[in-house]
Amino acid sequence: MSYPIEPYKVKVLNSINILNRTERIKALQKADYNLFKISSEKVTIDLLTDSGTSALSQEQWSQMMLGDESYASAKSWERLEASVKNFTGKKEIIPVHQGRAAEKIIAEILLQKNDVALSNGFFDTTRANLEHRGAICLDIPTEKILNPSQSRLFKGDINIKKLQRLISKYRKQIKFILMTLTNNTYGGQPASLKNVSLAGNIAKKNGLLFVIDACRIVENAYFIWRDEQKKRGNIKNIVRKLFSLADLAFMSTKKDGLANSGGFIATNDHALATQLRELVVLYEGFITYGGMTGREMESIARGLEEVVDLAYLNHRLGQIIYFHNELAKIGIPLINPPGGHAVYVDAAKFFPHIPKNNFPGQALVTALYQEGGIRSVEIGSLMLAGSAKNELVRLAIPRRTYVQSHLDYIVEIFKKITANKKQYKGFKIIWQASSLRHFTCKLKPL
Ligand SMILES: Cc1ncc(COP(=O)(O)O)c(C=O)c1O
Repeated sequence: MSYPIEPYKVKVLNSINILNRTERIKALQKADYNLFKISSEKVTIDLLTDSGTSALSQEQWSQMMLGDESYASAKSWERLEASVKNFTGKKEIIPVHQGRAAEKIIAEILLQKNDVALSNGFFDTTRANLEHRGAICLDIPTEKILNPSQSRLFKGDINIKKLQRLISKYRKQIKFILMTLTNNTYGGQPASLKNVSLAGNIAKKNGLLFVIDACRIVENAYFIWRDEQKKRGNIKNIVRKLFSLADLAFMSTKKDGLANSGGFIATNDHALATQLRELVVLYEGFITYGGMTGREMESIARGLEEVVDLAYLNHRLGQIIYFHNELAKIGIPLINPPGGHAVYVDAAKFFPHIPKNNFPGQALVTALYQEGGIRSVEIGSLMLAGSAKNELVRLAIPRRTYVQSHLDYIVEIFKKITANKKQYKGFKIIWQASSLRHFTCKLKPL
């Protein structure tokens, strides 16, 4: 596929620094080989995350000037609430400052020690928040993910057979089924509408809550539109259809909200919403801002309208396909097919000389920084420890931020690393926190 034309043009510049290799090696040493600790000023292309890194439109910036910073019932909250109701079709909207705040609050209301939750793939913060309550989180992704390089549609599905089996096994302990759309932990792959509906029906039949982590629900809806509905219908309706299947949904608006912050919880259940709101007041702020400023709420309100635009989505997903194909052409082992927000490299295959317990993914992450100032993230044994199913490196593409030359530059750096693979070594951990260790751990090269 040729590179899709950007449906926008540059208006404000954010210059980027290009350090030399020696400077980058020093920066890596100083950061204990943990890319989260490297100053963004020392990063040339930042593919650490697509979260909160979107470029804002001129309409978002102008609407932010109208931010109403009143403590209670601000105009900006009314605009956000109306926009989220329109986006989700839900009646009760509860604001939070970002996705994990929603996870913490939901976990506290729904879970007790030894309760079980099942998912197509818990994101790391979701898992950490639920486990913090003493709950047991079981990932049951579709078997289609077992062969990362094989191109199959809807590899973000939940495994329906296992779902039924586990519901029988843990009948008394299971509290809810959670679908992460798209499935970030397993390659940013989408779930089909058929699969989400089936899982929702099973939840209903068994009296379980059906929850959606909607961070990238629009990108997921695009895949449904393209591959399941053969481009019939429209994205906004698919998004609403997905939300209609959920008893409870939460969304970090740092992704498909096209905003730099924020989030919300949405439900039609008034009693549940009342319980959730009590905790929002305790942890986040009043129930009409949930830790967000009026300005932020304005940018999200507008972002949720812009994100369902087909021209934007064709470019967004087209850019990922282009980047994926260029890397595939030079033989980089990838998760196939390309997912929604990132390209995922199979680092175990890329660096077969580095065993899993020496983190081949982190070896590639540091190599990309050392050779090209590119920041990416490991999603494998370093991030997920024992629950890692693959050793991946995620190259997340911020929304509306980079253009073709940036992606071509990364491909050139991959060529350079590929030409000299054996020089890159694995790592061992010399310090780690008790949870979410990848954010702060210190590493030593072998
Ligand atoms: C699937 C998924 N769920 C939840 C979160 C948490 O959101 P936040 O970073 O806003 O706390 C993320 C963040 O990347 C995510 O990708």
